[in-house]
Amino acid sequence: MLSKNALAVVTGGSSGIGLAAAERFVAEGARVVISGRNEEKLQRAAQTLGDRALPVVADAASQDDMQRLYQTAVDHFQCDVGIVVANAGVSRQTPVPETSLAQFSDVLNVNVGGVYATVREALPFLARPASIILVASLAANQGTKNFSAYCASKAAVVSLAKCFAAEFIGFDIRVNSISPGVANTPIFESLGMSEAQLMQWSNVIPMKRPADPAEIAAAILFLASDASRYMTGADLAVDGGMSGISPF
Ligand SMILES: NC(=O)c1ccc[n+]([C@@H]2O[C@H](COP(=O)([O-])OP(=O)(O)OC[C@H]3O[C@@H](n4cnc5c(N)ncnc54)[C@H](OP(=O)(O)O)[C@@H]3O)[C@@H](O)[C@H]2O)c1
Repeated sequence: MLSKNALAVVTGGSSGIGLAAAERFVAEGARVVISGRNEEKLQRAAQTLGDRALPVVADAASQDDMQRLYQTAVDHFQCDVGIVVANAGVSRQTPVPETSLAQFSDVLNVNVGGVYATVREALPFLARPASIILVASLAANQGTKNFSAYCASKAAVVSLAKCFAAEFIGFDIRVNSISPGVANTPIFESLGMSEAQLMQWSNVIPMKRPADPAEIAAAILFLASDASRYMTGADLAVDGGMSGISPF
């Protein structure tokens, strides 16, 4: 499905959806660079991927880190980058009365600034054709109590995909976003949610279960591959029916 030896960069590739995407890319014969801030976690993930994977510690919200990441990727694998998955993201509860502007901005800095830096710093290193996938969320379109920073950040990600797609259309660079609903990843631990609570939450999902990260990775692979060559500026919902099916 991917061109042989394609080089993919996956930010936040040490865990959850990013790691599942990296696993899928490697299984398809690609080489992959994964990034994250926690070196130990990143090294552990890279070991599971084997020698077609290169871990690079980098904060997605740092232009310098992202520039260094792409330079390292291209130097190491001696080819340009054909696929970028801007996946790194954080989720935090931000009830309005208890959340300062600085705390609100922290979430936007990673989830929106990080996506911007990931795409901007990729440009000099991109192969042609190239496919960029931004990981947004169902939350982009659903107001959620206590999650204004996260929801607003993901609405911005969907918008960025459309704006980047418009700007790069003449350069053989496609940009799409993907909007998972609920996927079973460690992001919920960071919110203090247990697996039992996650499963309870899943009652509102028409398919009655959260996604396995591999199911999100399959859709990322589709957007990365030539099979989606006529798609750009789209947002792909992979949410067990949450956005399309009424609960009534
Ligand atoms: N799970 C879901 O239900 C769901 C639903 C919709 C959308 N999403 C989105 O999917 C993406 C992946 O989430 P996930 O559920 O797979 O969560 P996860 O398992 O917590 O993974 C998040 C990844 O992002 C990395 N990361 C966080 N901040 C970073 C930064 N500033 N720079 C570089 N890496 C950073 C983390 O590593 P370090 O902490 O080591 O940096 C980790 O590798 C996120 O954008 C999330 O919003 C998830």
